[in-house]
Amino acid sequence: MCGIVGYIGKRQACEVLIKGLKRLEYRGYDSAGVAFSGDSFRIYKCKGKVSDLEEQLKDKNINGCMGMGHTRWATHGEPTNNNAHPHQSMNGKFVIIHNGIIENYAKLKSGLEKEGYKFASETDTEVLANLIEYVYLHNQNNGDSLSCVDAVRVALNMVEGAYGLVIMSEDNPEKLIAARKGSPLVIGIGRGEYFIASDATPIIEYTNSVIYLNDDDIAVIGLDGLNLTNLKKVKQIPNIKKIDLKLDEIEKNGFEHYMLKEIYEQPRAIRDTYRGRLNFESKYLKLGGLHNVFSELKEAKRIMIIACGTSWHAGLVGEYLFEEFTRIPTEVEYASEFRYRNPVINKGDLVIAISQSGETADTLAAIQLAKKAGAIVIGICNVVGSSIPRETIAGVYTHAGPEIGVASTKAFTAQVTVLTMMAMAIGQANQGLTEKEFEDLIGELYAIPDKIEKILNTSNHIKDIAEKIKDSTNSLYLGRGYLFPVALEGALKLKEISYIHAEGYPAAEMKHGPIALIDEKMPVIVLATKDHSYDKIVSNIQEVKARKGCIIAIVTEGDTTIKEMADYVIEVPQSDFALAPLLTVVPLQLLSYYIAVYRGCNVDQPRNLAKSVTVE
Ligand code: F6R
Repeated sequence: MCGIVGYIGKRQACEVLIKGLKRLEYRGYDSAGVAFSGDSFRIYKCKGKVSDLEEQLKDKNINGCMGMGHTRWATHGEPTNNNAHPHQSMNGKFVIIHNGIIENYAKLKSGLEKEGYKFASETDTEVLANLIEYVYLHNQNNGDSLSCVDAVRVALNMVEGAYGLVIMSEDNPEKLIAARKGSPLVIGIGRGEYFIASDATPIIEYTNSVIYLNDDDIAVIGLDGLNLTNLKKVKQIPNIKKIDLKLDEIEKNGFEHYMLKEIYEQPRAIRDTYRGRLNFESKYLKLGGLHNVFSELKEAKRIMIIACGTSWHAGLVGEYLFEEFTRIPTEVEYASEFRYRNPVINKGDLVIAISQSGETADTLAAIQLAKKAGAIVIGICNVVGSSIPRETIAGVYTHAGPEIGVASTKAFTAQVTVLTMMAMAIGQANQGLTEKEFEDLIGELYAIPDKIEKILNTSNHIKDIAEKIKDSTNSLYLGRGYLFPVALEGALKLKEISYIHAEGYPAAEMKHGPIALIDEKMPVIVLATKDHSYDKIVSNIQEVKARKGCIIAIVTEGDTTIKEMADYVIEVPQSDFALAPLLTVVPLQLLSYYIAVYRGCNVDQPRNLAKSVTVE
């Protein structure tokens, strides 16, 4: 949450900053701002999106080869011009941009107020700007002059919370200072130029050499090079990595929205996720990232999956897969609950953290807790080099490619693909699966991308249904077994991008309460593909029909029974029922997408949301 960009080099900084902010806008779009150094700071900022800022910059002096920019997801203080970043300290010595939360800001603020500091915004970031300045000036007044970076270091040692920061200082105007704790920061190294950003997407156009800052790192960056130390002033050796990310992976490539592009990318994303790991001909499955811990994994007495949002829904599918294929008891928990409730974690328990971004603050904190308790903690992440893969001892990357639409789509199916492979690998090793079952599953998983392509070809039909139900104010999603998590995911997709209230329920739970809501105005989306509970779901559909609910059923190709009962049906190809989530979620993603488009909603940037939730 919040996107940060910094630049120093030979180019006009503004162009790099604005382009970079647009690439990071998925992290928040409440306000945007830039600052340039020179004889004095020039700071331009406004409520709204980067395009609003761009308008404002048209008649401004934006010359300069060094600067920084920020796109905000509001935490402290409403989205207003004053609360927009960059923030300048009261006496004008420092300008900063920040992603994260300063938890002890109130205490620091009242201390600074006692020292005469006045505040122009309600943000925790301005408190930090003033704290750095206070440390700097206070030491100067006492005759111990402190360099700008040392003042930053002293101030950061007083701070509790999380930050990714870029700082410019009046007294050292040719340097950018970058610091990280808890919130991601990447430095791109070009020829005679440096880029700083919250993730690599603003950087890849210029260079593929990057340094991922570690917690407590402080970098001072100038045209003469980069100096890396930590909060204790110990020199750090920069670890330069090459990133393998192509520009066209982060463009819309002719699609109207990122979300639609990402829905359509799912066959490719799943193939890339199993490529090199699963072989159809030789019936081979190997997850290289788990090699070092595999013997512990197959002996695990208990599996705990921790995640948030859509990743948590993937985790629920994982619970069904692990228990069925490995017979190891599995629990799934919201990372935000897990970290605060003193959970029972035994040494040797397997904890799987799932996160698309690899930066979700609650998931990271839950990992740290589980590690302390002696669990084996592994990750399933999409963003290479992000914090979660670095916090876990082993893991498997999903190769979905950058997910930019705020509503997660291809990350979900790639995560479920990895969970399926993990459960299959452990199940094969601990005999939870017979060899025949294992081999059949390889064939089934291998075929999933082609089947998704078939579903995508029916998008016009799904669009027509979307038009029919676009004006509803409520809706219910029902599923059983493996398809219950898909019902939850379908409901989440609808609420987050179209602002229609939606709830997901296990179909059998309907008569314990939610059935009271059903009338002719209530669309009920039922996941009703053929599996062992098919007859039960048919009965559930009849119960809804008897109360005049409008049924949209996701059925297996060729189903005639449900066709006669439902108002609309969407067909998906037949598959093993354990893999049905990978197919049935796709029409739900498309349905939400088209409903949101019909309602005129901003699909890629839904209100109040942002991707990569680096605050708790
Ligand atoms: C929903 C969505 C969120 C994320 C959640 C976890 O469409 O995108 O619910 O799934 O914020 O994010 P990650 O997976 O990055 O940890």
